[in-house]
Amino acid sequence: MKVLVVGGGGREHTLIWKLKQSPRVDKIYCAPGNGGIAQDAECIPLTADNIQGLADFATAEKIDLTVVGPEVSLVAGIGDLFASRGLKLFGPRGKAALLEGSKVFSKEVMAKYGVSTAAFKVFQDPADARSFVRELGGPCVIKADGLAAGKGVIIAANTAEAEEAVQLVMEERAFGEAGKSVVVEELLEGEEVSVLAFTDGKTILPLVASQDHKRIFDGDEGPNTGGMGAYSPPPIYTSELHDMACKDVLEPVIRGLASEGIKYQGVIYAGLMITKKGPYVLEFNCRFGDPETQVVIPRLKTDLIEVMEAVVDERLDEVQLEWDSRAAVCVVLASGGYPGSYEKGKVITGLDELPSDVLAFHAGTVLAGEQLVTSGGRVLGITGFGVGVEEAVRRAYAGVEKIHFEGMQYRRDIAHRALKRG
Ligand code: AMP
Ligand code: GLY
Repeated sequence: MKVLVVGGGGREHTLIWKLKQSPRVDKIYCAPGNGGIAQDAECIPLTADNIQGLADFATAEKIDLTVVGPEVSLVAGIGDLFASRGLKLFGPRGKAALLEGSKVFSKEVMAKYGVSTAAFKVFQDPADARSFVRELGGPCVIKADGLAAGKGVIIAANTAEAEEAVQLVMEERAFGEAGKSVVVEELLEGEEVSVLAFTDGKTILPLVASQDHKRIFDGDEGPNTGGMGAYSPPPIYTSELHDMACKDVLEPVIRGLASEGIKYQGVIYAGLMITKKGPYVLEFNCRFGDPETQVVIPRLKTDLIEVMEAVVDERLDEVQLEWDSRAAVCVVLASGGYPGSYEKGKVITGLDELPSDVLAFHAGTVLAGEQLVTSGGRVLGITGFGVGVEEAVRRAYAGVEKIHFEGMQYRRDIAHRALKRG
């Protein structure tokens, strides 16, 4: 069969690496792809927001299944457009994707169906938001309603910071229209875990859990990024917590949406805070995580195309997921200056010297003639495996040592929480 993957980051490279292993897949296209993906798939110069162009391409090329990476396409309604053209697509429809596309919608669904999440209020008027944060009188979290490329969440340590955040998001519209409405919520404390699940709207099949590292510097210091590394499995996430996450998070949200006539088909990502009272939802995403995918999908033994087709055809009850028991660790190599401004076009060397058991997933790379050069903030994700997390950390960093490009930065402490637990 012919598959089209939409997106061009490390997540999409990982999905393509896995899909390529299926005996059922003959040809993979990727739109727009990147320098590394170009070695595994045919790259098409269409961006993820060009859903009309993607539908035209899928029709013309008779694509059997389109797999969507980024939320922009999903929230823009690529699922509905493809369905209207009779094209098969893995990813939720626009209404279901609102779980990520609108924080207000997401929190309201959670409240209505009893999903564990931080207490919150929604505001359209900055004066009301201000008086509420004064009333709270302590730390809180301010979230712009709409998509803001992962930047629309401000953690305020006190009332003054919360008022500044209201000003920035609602009055200055720092994130544009996304700041028309805001969610103000209670600050949760604990360790974060990412739990993804395949669902066809009825059956829910959770993937192995993972933990991301959002800050740029070691020790979780500095500004937030798209994610500087991940590992799986996180030892904090016990089977008891997993049962709670299924019962108190995944099941109520999928059943709740279904009861409103919204069938969620695709992968759902629950960003959980493991609090003293159990797992609480920080956010839902309507897609695979990045870099979580780079550690979770390589652990999946089951043919990914079989799973995705079962999701699309609503027969996920026929599928069982099998997992590699080894741990996986992914270290992201980023451009100097990221997540601020950075230079591009730096020559990347050492990929041909990687140990054979280490994988390199490309994010911001491009081929300039014969040479691979940097083209984004996050450049590569280097994934290693081991009997436990400690060994996987060693293998991943053994790979990292081989790679070089000018200005390269990465965290030296990926999986530190797991290692501390011993
Ligand atoms: P979100 O996009 O809603 O996941 O927020 C991005 C990040 O902000 C999360 O991964 C958390 O690190 C942090 N965050 C969001 N909401 C809260 C909260 N209620 N309490 C503490 N941290 C939060
Ligand atoms: N790694 C966080 C995300 O994909 O949203």
